[in-house]
Amino acid sequence: KIHRIACIPGDGIGVDITNAAEQVLQKLSSTVGGFEFDFNTFDWSSSNYLSRGWYMPPDGLDQLKKHDAIYFGAVGWPDVPDHISLWGLILPIRKALNQYVNVRPTRILPGTTSPLSSCAANPSSLDWLIIRENSEGEYSGQGGTSHEHSPHAIATEVSIFTQVGIERIMRFAFEAARLRPRKKLTMVTKSNAQRHGMVLWDKVFYQVAKEYPDIEIDKMLVDAMTVRMVLNPQSLDTIVATNLHADILSDLAAALSGSIGIAPSSNLDPTRGNPSMFEPIHGSAPDIAGKGIANPVGAFWSAAEMVRWLGEEEAADGLMKAVENVTAAGVKTKDLGGEKNTKEVTDAVCAEIEKL
Ligand code: NAI
Ligand code: MG
Repeated sequence: KIHRIACIPGDGIGVDITNAAEQVLQKLSSTVGGFEFDFNTFDWSSSNYLSRGWYMPPDGLDQLKKHDAIYFGAVGWPDVPDHISLWGLILPIRKALNQYVNVRPTRILPGTTSPLSSCAANPSSLDWLIIRENSEGEYSGQGGTSHEHSPHAIATEVSIFTQVGIERIMRFAFEAARLRPRKKLTMVTKSNAQRHGMVLWDKVFYQVAKEYPDIEIDKMLVDAMTVRMVLNPQSLDTIVATNLHADILSDLAAALSGSIGIAPSSNLDPTRGNPSMFEPIHGSAPDIAGKGIANPVGAFWSAAEMVRWLGEEEAADGLMKAVENVTAAGVKTKDLGGEKNTKEVTDAVCAEIEKL
């Protein structure tokens, strides 16, 4: 079986880590057997935007739709305002391809440690699955600026929450919670201060919860949630939050699990009508770009999630096992307290795959 992968390296360390992931995925298919990857690489990046004037060509989405999955590095570079790069590439893909769920698992990998002393002593106390609404809410892109060039500029940033949009993310979150041993779902909003959209979130959450009596539920305000994640991590399991809140909470989660460099994400179209997209949660990291020292673990974990979504369960488990054997052996990049570079970690994972 051939899986057609659209690969978009993007900018900065996005290029390093997609190269590393491609190498590991090819090794995985040749070792495990039974399937192959056909990579098609797209040079949609900030430097090409500066010379061509576009991130994605007019038929870009149609080109992506011809693939079984999309593997993404990162987009954004200091020469281009970040809202231009994000809205030029990643946000339109998520929206147009109906990738309304963003799944972000967090746990502490063997051989790595948490900055939280409670988790450093007991790594299994941090094991979360963050479900991020990925299509609407605060990242709807609605609003505008008036009197832009005067000292009296006014800007609005309108969040859009729909019953349909909330219901479908809640259902996905409850189903995801059901598949985990603890069967526990925490819903996050800010419905004390934001009195329309967030209140609708709360309401729909409790409506959908009635269909899942086997799931233990609770509700948190986002500010208090940051405290609970730090002070009481073992009290959380599956978490559902809006586009903005989950974006922020998942960076915190990644830091608490050891480094933003290990954290994966899946942008899913659960209807499978469009290809889903897999990417580490980190950005292009201009501060370390071109040095060959980016941590590729988040990229490998994202690749494993892609392999799983494509139906190759055994290969996905094998890839994660290889990655965990490598971290357990102390072969780690600097962000995890190690001394290895991207290539050394990648070669070590390939060597572990050969032992599968
Ligand atoms: P960032 O995630 O790129 O970097 C934050 C910090 O974490 C930096 O110190 C960086 O060196 C470190 N870091 C990130 N990934 C790492 C890795 N794999 N290994 C080792 N260290 C790592 O976030 P930042 O600096 O806020 O954004 C940089 C650019 O990336 C901006 O243009 C931003 O808009 C863009 N961005 C793009 C995303 C995407 O394409 N999905 C997501 C987040 C940011
Ligand atoms: Mg983010």
